[in-house]
Amino acid sequence: MGMLRCFLVGFVGALVLAALIQAQDQSGFISIDCGATADASFTESKTGINYTSDANLINTGVSMSIESDLKKQYQRYMWTLRSFPEGKRNCYKINITRGSKYLIKTGFLYGNYDGLNKLPKFDVHLGANRWSTVNINNGSINEVNEIIHVASLDYVQICLVDTGSGTPFISSIELRTLTNDIYVTESGSLETYIRWDMGSNIGYRYKEDIYDRYWSYGNINNWTQLSVSISSADALEQNVYQPPAIVMSTAVTPSNDSAPLVINWMPDDPTDKFYLYMYFMEIQELGTNQTREFNIVENGIQRYSKFSPKNLIATTLYSSSASSGSEIIYSLQKTKNSTLPPIINALEIYKAIDFPQSETFKGDDDAITAIKSIYGVTRDWQGDPCAPVDYLWDGLNCSYNKKESPRITTLNLSSSGLSGKIDPSIANLSMLEKLDLSNNSLNGEIPDFLSQFQHLKILNLEKNNLSGLIPTALVEKSKKGSLSLSVDQNPNLCESGQCNVQDEGKEKEKKEKNNIVAPIVATVSGVVILLIVVVAVVWMVKRRKLKALIVEKDQSQISPQYTEQDDLVLPLRKQIYSYSDVLKITNNFNTTLGKGGFGTVYLGHIDETPVAVKMLSSSSVQGFQQFQAEVKLLMRVHHKNLTSLVGYCNEETNKGLIYEYMANGDLQEHLSGKHSKTKFFTWEERLRIAVDAALGLEYLQNGCKPPIIHRDIKSTNILLNEQFQAKLADFGLSKIIPTEGGTHVSTVVAGTPGYLDPEYFITNRLTEKSDVFSFGVVLLEIITNQPVIMRGEESIHISDWVKSLVLKGDIKAIVDSRLEGDYDTNSVWKAVEIATECVSPNMNRRPVTSVIVIELKESLSMEVARKKHRGNPLTHSGVSMNLNTEFIPHAR
Ligand SMILES: *[C@@H]1O[C@H](CO)[C@@H](O)[C@H](O)[C@H]1NC(C)=O
Ligand SMILES: *[C@@H]1O[C@H](CO)[C@@H](O)[C@H](O)[C@H]1NC(C)=O
Ligand SMILES: *[C@@H]1O[C@H](CO)[C@@H](O)[C@H](O)[C@H]1NC(C)=O
Ligand SMILES: *[C@@H]1O[C@H](CO)[C@@H](O)[C@H](O)[C@H]1NC(C)=O
Ligand SMILES: *[C@@H]1O[C@H](CO)[C@@H](O)[C@H](O)[C@H]1NC(C)=O
Ligand SMILES: *[C@@H]1O[C@H](CO)[C@@H](O)[C@H](O)[C@H]1NC(C)=O
Ligand SMILES: *[C@@H]1O[C@H](CO)[C@@H](O)[C@H](O)[C@H]1NC(C)=O
Ligand SMILES: *[C@@H]1O[C@H](CO)[C@@H](O)[C@H](O)[C@H]1NC(C)=O
Ligand SMILES: *[C@@H]1O[C@H](CO)[C@@H](O)[C@H](O)[C@H]1NC(C)=O
Repeated sequence: MGMLRCFLVGFVGALVLAALIQAQDQSGFISIDCGATADASFTESKTGINYTSDANLINTGVSMSIESDLKKQYQRYMWTLRSFPEGKRNCYKINITRGSKYLIKTGFLYGNYDGLNKLPKFDVHLGANRWSTVNINNGSINEVNEIIHVASLDYVQICLVDTGSGTPFISSIELRTLTNDIYVTESGSLETYIRWDMGSNIGYRYKEDIYDRYWSYGNINNWTQLSVSISSADALEQNVYQPPAIVMSTAVTPSNDSAPLVINWMPDDPTDKFYLYMYFMEIQELGTNQTREFNIVENGIQRYSKFSPKNLIATTLYSSSASSGSEIIYSLQKTKNSTLPPIINALEIYKAIDFPQSETFKGDDDAITAIKSIYGVTRDWQGDPCAPVDYLWDGLNCSYNKKESPRITTLNLSSSGLSGKIDPSIANLSMLEKLDLSNNSLNGEIPDFLSQFQHLKILNLEKNNLSGLIPTALVEKSKKGSLSLSVDQNPNLCESGQCNVQDEGKEKEKKEKNNIVAPIVATVSGVVILLIVVVAVVWMVKRRKLKALIVEKDQSQISPQYTEQDDLVLPLRKQIYSYSDVLKITNNFNTTLGKGGFGTVYLGHIDETPVAVKMLSSSSVQGFQQFQAEVKLLMRVHHKNLTSLVGYCNEETNKGLIYEYMANGDLQEHLSGKHSKTKFFTWEERLRIAVDAALGLEYLQNGCKPPIIHRDIKSTNILLNEQFQAKLADFGLSKIIPTEGGTHVSTVVAGTPGYLDPEYFITNRLTEKSDVFSFGVVLLEIITNQPVIMRGEESIHISDWVKSLVLKGDIKAIVDSRLEGDYDTNSVWKAVEIATECVSPNMNRRPVTSVIVIELKESLSMEVARKKHRGNPLTHSGVSMNLNTEFIPHAR
């Protein structure tokens, strides 16, 4: 049978515009015409895609045009290009949405733009990793590189790299946002290997394809072509992969009716990992005694049995784990009962590529970018500062640690024509070991922050115009031998006690001044700017509060006078209960609901309404602090997914908190069956609880200023009310992140084993991502109903257990078996994907809560859609099935 080859050549000129079949906009598209004049912006008539110039995304390279003869074969966006005769690596920096999945396409049409007729070969990098080698074989053919990639930063850098085989250039860059739940891999990004519209004689892209995938047509000489006309997209029942109706309307069958339909290819490297997506739809009218049924066999292993494509319903079959080998053979074999041969409408094959190198630590990247712009550094500083290793920026050195982002350890800007002061942004390179600013024209004083670096061993400031006193801390470090300090040939610099008599007076004056200023400057290690920000924020918050209070006053006419302090106390006052009130409310502590670390919780009633009263054990000093923290917090926060505070009692040793009563206890009780009226949650109900909890968490992080870290997210702290709406409880351990600028709080390790962020455990650094980790663990519990730590011969954490099964693609083993398969597989995969991202050991890889909420909602809507369609035989939803996990015929 026909051997498939990679036809990754976009014959854009051959595109034929078919009738517009789907209303759609270009939201989520970024379409860049490289080399176009700075303000260029135009719409391609063939596709309707709007392109803009690359001018504001890069400031190197030169604009060129392809030779005019070729222009008529190509759309306008291919006519110009940007060429990079200078520099080893030149980079585009394009803003995108972090955590989103993108189809990224880069186009290269040489078109003899330089009149040399010499075909170049060069590399393309994506961020810190090599992406591909562009090898132009034919100057009149547009070579397209395509990748499906999830962005880990809020920008992506695409770099053209000179490898000594010709000048790099680029013609176009196109980014298309995909939904995150399609093209899911075990690891890595996906490079397009083949995308074929079977049985067609023309290629399609946008607007036929809403994701602008280019479907090319292949060599199909031994296959029979079939086609049907689909008048509108509505006639086709779609699935999440959204194959274009026009692509699905053609198909092939083997020309010999009894022979199998074979798709085979031979990878260049047998360890390459491939993912296959097959698209099926019945397009023939079948007679009453006609059937089309076939088995799908991969290298002799049956992957799917008795598959029967459905009429006008697009079905995508894909492999959730990769295939590899020296030859990969997929064979579609007719079953005995089948009267018709197998059929296939479209096919995609992707090759997984790993991008193992993480980008430079963001704080370092930001700092060095600032330094570059402040001093106007003219070096070839492009792309990621530290990676790949052999493209390290000239004058830097970095430390590389497998798991973590590279950190800048050396900054050498000697003899670089720097002028002005020593800039405070240098202080942010907190891992610096060597700093060389010698032989420049730097002036001003030596800032104190230079003595604050923990690891600095070499500081060279020779041959500048620095003046004033050398900070004593630096001199001391140098005397102790922990720092090699060079300050020679700065004519106006002096060390304490060695300055000449005339200057002595001034020095004294300055010293006195310094004595006042220095402590502050020193403790914040030069980040004076941060201090100002903090002040501004506090001031803004105060202002806002004040305004809110005034409104309240106008409306309720209470509290004619108040001071700044009342700010907090005023709303509290309404909800204070005396100890005798508490006794009445709880009927003398008649009913105990539970015992916590800091006291006992009782059932109470205020005007018939049930409440939960948490009394603090009087001995607990820590508890008292928690109590205060919790009161302060709960007064500030209000959200439907956070347990709300009704009031509190604070009479000497009698301290209590009164909450709304959560009638159905906590999530853990139900999952484990320990609740007296245990409810078994369906998949949909589980997702609703997860969404509720995520919304509560998101509010704490994004709705509160400053944000709040809960610190003890666990399934026993997710409470359920009468309607089983979930709310986060127990803020006793919560910590407020003190400033908007700071991202973490160092604190004593607290929390619950199994839920605790391993990174926090080691570093004592508490961040919002610590809560994300704990939330991920809860999500895994919801999905699997397994204990957080599985105790057997050795203890296994739930996240490791799930990850091992994910690698096997074994979703059925992951999901709580009591659900008995009653769920949408894609919905579960999505939830598992979110959860495993949340429990990533590297906190940078964990998603932000707002993304978690969106993703969980998507997962929920998949499940809801499945249920809606179930039981109504007329509205089958288009399906996408997972080859490796759906061995059983007609599962569901
Ligand atoms: C395709 O068909 C032709 C005859 O029509 C035959 O000679 C050739 O071997 C076939 N190719 C393959 C790969 O089966
Ligand atoms: C594309 O550009 C045209 C003209 O500049 C504009 O009218 C149209 O709304 C744009 N289309 C989209 C989808 O942005
Ligand atoms: C990209 O985002 C950064 C930070 O938000 C912003 O400063 C910059 O102007 C943006 N660049 C473009 C080209 O929009
Ligand atoms: C390059 O491709 C064009 C268009 O397919 C073709 O006409 C031409 O012969 C090719 N040139 C070479 C050198 O292969
Ligand atoms: C059709 O395929 C069957 C099974 O592979 C084979 O036995 C038969 O010879 C083929 N017929 C022709 C005409 O090639
Ligand atoms: C269905 O099968 C019967 C008996 O096998 C045959 O006579 C008839 O022609 C078939 N009909 C079609 C539409 O193939
Ligand atoms: C073939 O079809 C018949 C009738 O529909 C059915 O009884 C039989 O089990 C089928 N055979 C196989 C192998 O599926
Ligand atoms: C960079 O640092 C590494 C060790 O971290 C060292 O081996 C290497 O020689 C350094 N490179 C330069 C140019 O200083
Ligand atoms: C900085 O670079 C210069 C030359 O580029 C070199 O002579 C000097 O030793 C370097 N400084 C350090 C601290 O490595």
